Formats: sequence, structure tokens, C-alpha cells
Amino acid sequence: MFESIEPAPSDAILGLSAAFNDDPRSEKINLSVGVYQDEAGKTPVLECVRRAEQRLAAAAGSKSYLPIPGSAEYRESVRQLLFGEKYESEHPGCVASAHTPGGTGALRVAADFLHANLPQATVWLSDPTWPNHPNIFTAAGVPTKTFAYFDRESNSLDYQNMTAAIEQIPAGDVILLHGCCHNPTGIDPTVAQWQQIADLVVERGLTAMLDFAYQGFADGVEEDAAAARTFCRPGSELIVCSSFSKNFSLYRERVGALSLVCKSQEQAAAVQSQINRVIRSNYSNPPAHGAAIVSTVLRDSQLRSEWEDEVTTMRRRIAGMRQTLVDALAAKGVPGDYSFISQQRGLFSFTGLSKEQADVLRERHAIYIVGSGRINVAGLTPANVEHVAEAIGDVVGQTV
Ligand code: LMR
Repeated sequence: MFESIEPAPSDAILGLSAAFNDDPRSEKINLSVGVYQDEAGKTPVLECVRRAEQRLAAAAGSKSYLPIPGSAEYRESVRQLLFGEKYESEHPGCVASAHTPGGTGALRVAADFLHANLPQATVWLSDPTWPNHPNIFTAAGVPTKTFAYFDRESNSLDYQNMTAAIEQIPAGDVILLHGCCHNPTGIDPTVAQWQQIADLVVERGLTAMLDFAYQGFADGVEEDAAAARTFCRPGSELIVCSSFSKNFSLYRERVGALSLVCKSQEQAAAVQSQINRVIRSNYSNPPAHGAAIVSTVLRDSQLRSEWEDEVTTMRRRIAGMRQTLVDALAAKGVPGDYSFISQQRGLFSFTGLSKEQADVLRERHAIYIVGSGRINVAGLTPANVEHVAEAIGDVVGQTV
């Protein structure tokens, strides 16, 4: 039966991590997968998480099943984080939501929901986008198309072509936007541009879906919710796929959420029932531990302020490494102006390096970056940044 099965291509991002793990060279550096690392190159367990886990262990709760969409407390905490403290009391019962296994799980539940309930809808993806976006929608049988997003010449948002493209998207389709810290470019619209984009999306009769995986990594936890809140207008609908992998450093706990803002309580109840149906036939109900940590932290004022401080520390470290890399490239005389790296936000920088240059970095220097030229800035440390700058100098043709 399995004789005819061909090997699948390796994953554009996680495939590189597997190759990195197998690489015997001791000087190897992994700048591929989007995982935060501290100055020592370690992915930390946050202190607020450690303390929440101690409380959970002492409380010795049950391991019985959670409800299909997950714990009500967790879902409420997520909605407050995304839409603000007041949204719930002003629009009670208007958001259908589910705790999902990571942000990827949220995207897949959303895709299955669209396929089952709105089969005529195409999902529009930015060019470029996270390489797993097309995989997820294709696997669920949802068609995708792309819209312009990034100007490679100026390393900036191609706002004009982006809005011109949105004007051509047929009503009833879904546009997938990155809530902040666009992956892979690190380039986001300004708050004013988000407002114009939201106006356009509403005017065109489109539904926005936000992939919101980096809340707190651009400007701050509240500040980064600007796009989500701009789209969350009275009378409009919105889908948000969010994740606590990065901002809680809970990667392997797989803790994310799907939230669908509806126009009325009745619509939210119908949407919730369809979401539950999708989940039941997939993973039945979510794993509990990560969500219990997140709601313990978000519902306790002291733990929550500790968490915000820890997110601030991560954000500042990444911003600092961006500038250090720009300075190191300039000091080594690497041709080109790399100052754009310090203006990008979130974990990633789109360096402009080609697939061939990424291959040389890996083969000759044991530095792993994604083939699109994306690097995980949080993989840079004071100990490795000089070496990375030298290697980049080498692959762009400069002898250092
Ligand atoms: C990334 O883009 O590197 C992360 O979102 C991890 C992943 O699953 O690809």
C-alpha cells in the first residue's frame, strides 16, 4: 500500500531546524525558526509562567476533558487582551471563540470553518507571507490568492499597490493580515494606514482575518492591539487567530485562540456551534496546561504586570540586536545600506539575501536562515553577531 508514496518536501522553516539539529558543527547558529532566545542563546521559561505553574501544581486540579472550545476563563482573558477591557461589556456575547492548539491550530480551525460554511470564499494572502499560510488553507480545501505587500527596492510597505490590490478583491472574500510584526518582512502598516485599510475592507464587503502571533513584540501589549481594535468596529465582522507561543514563550505547550467577532449574539451563537463542530471532528477539545498558565497570569494583577515586564525585556533585547547587527555590518564594510533592519519590528528581519546566499551561509558558515532571506533577530547574541555580520559580508561578495 505504501509503495507508491513519494517523500514530501521538507518544511521551509521547521525542516531547517531539523537540519540544524543534525549539523555536527559546533559553531552552528540557528537564525531560522521564529523562537525568542535570550542573550545566552536560551529560550527561557518566563518567571511569571514558572510561578503560575507552581500555583497550578499546588491546586492539583482535574485532568478531565475541557469543553470543546476550551476553558471559558481562558477564552474571556484572550478576548480582553485582543479587544480591550470594555469590549465584552459593550458587546456581550458577540464574539465566538475557542482555545486552539497554537496559532496554527486557530488558522486550521478557521480554514475548516470557512470551507464548511463559506465555500465560495477565497483567502487573500500578503506577498510574501508565512510559508505555512498557503499550506493550511490548501490542506483545508480553501482557495488562496495573493496581494502586493512589500517593496523589495525600498524594503518598505508597498502601501499603494497593497490598497490598489485590495480594491480589486471581490466582496465576500477573506483578507489575511498580520496583526503586528509581519512575518517574514517585519514591516507593518502605521496606525493611520490600518484605519484606511479597515475602511477599505469594510467598503469592499471583505472579511478581515488577523494572524496575531506577536502581541507585545512591536511597541507593547496594548499598542500592538491597534489593528485588531481598528477592525473591531460596530457592525463589522472579524476573525482573529492569536498565539501565546512567542509572548509567553510557551511554544511547545501549543496555546492559541480563534476569536470571531459577529454582528449579534444570535450570529455569534450560530458561528460558535459551527466552530465547535469543526473542533470535535478534528482534535475534540484542546490540551489544558498552556491555557491554564495563560489565564492564571492574565487574571492575577501581579503576575500580569510581571508578564508585561518580561515581554518588554524580550522586545527591547530584539530591538537592541537589530541595531547591533546594523552597526556590525557597517563596521565590516558590507556593501549596502542595512539601516532598514532597525526599523523592522518583531522577531524577523527580511535581509534581502537570496536563496543562494542563504544556502552559502548554511553550507560555508553553519548559519541557518530561511531561504526567503528571513532571519530571526532573536537568535543573535552579543557573542555571535560579529561572526554573523562577517558571514553576511562574505556571501554578499565582500572579503572581510
Ligand atoms: C516561524 O515563522 O518561524 C514560526 O512561526 C514558527 C513556525 O511554526 O513556522
